Amino acid sequence: MKKLLLIGPPGAGKGTQADLICSSLNIPKISTGDMLRAAIASGNELGQKVSSVMKSGSLVSDEIIIELISDRISQPDCGSGFLFDGCIRTAGQADLCVQNNIEFTHVIEINVVDEIIVNRMSGRRVHPGSGRNYHLIYQPPRHDGLDDETGEPLIQREDDLPDTVKHRLNVYHEETKPLVEYYQEKSTDNSLNYVKVDGSMEVQKVFEAIKKHF
Ligand code: AP5
Repeated sequence: MKKLLLIGPPGAGKGTQADLICSSLNIPKISTGDMLRAAIASGNELGQKVSSVMKSGSLVSDEIIIELISDRISQPDCGSGFLFDGCIRTAGQADLCVQNNIEFTHVIEINVVDEIIVNRMSGRRVHPGSGRNYHLIYQPPRHDGLDDETGEPLIQREDDLPDTVKHRLNVYHEETKPLVEYYQEKSTDNSLNYVKVDGSMEVQKVFEAIKKHF
């Protein structure tokens, strides 16, 4: 059974690769970012709690994240594996995973330098209903401003404004980058496979580099 975790900076292409991997392996994609945005859109209690944190590009609390992912992986569609799209971002969350018996067979790091990311984020457009990602230049929709599958309008995320992207990158380097070492160490005792790919290549090439490991 495949239990995958994708790690990488904002805009590295985690969501894009997650869609490709999940279609290929037929496992569900779990994105805490998508779940939190859905909560904000619905206006529920969780959404009200996390709205300003998300907008600023900071991280929501470890407790909220662990509750979200624990609930989600207890659902029947996760019985034959799952992919976490950027769901674990702090040492505290990694510890809570261990305490809650949430384990991974593969950790995939998508590595992209900050300069490329700032450029990518300014061109990103998203279909809010599904979380499908596009890019004005690198991955344009078939019809300008519209989702390929539903024809609904695409939006620009509030946290994709340049200053917020810079803050998200700082948060990544301070809070999430240390997890790279944590999971790399685990791979040395064979408790998981650690895969590092260059995310600055074209989308299909990144996918091929990942696919080799399954
Ligand atoms: P989340 O939605 O997960 O955002 P993120 O991790 O910052 O990542 P992004 O979705 O911005 O980028 P991505 O790596 O998925 O890249 P994408 O494929 O879209 O989280 C948002 C917020 O939620 C966080 O800031 C935090 O507040 C909160 N949160 C979520 N999880 C949390 C947790 N565990 N703990 C605490 N808080 C949490 O690609 C980006 C663009 O580039 C697209 O336009 C795409 O088309 C394009 N692109 C992709 N690949 C390529 C390529 N190879 N070449 C050219 N263009 C490409």
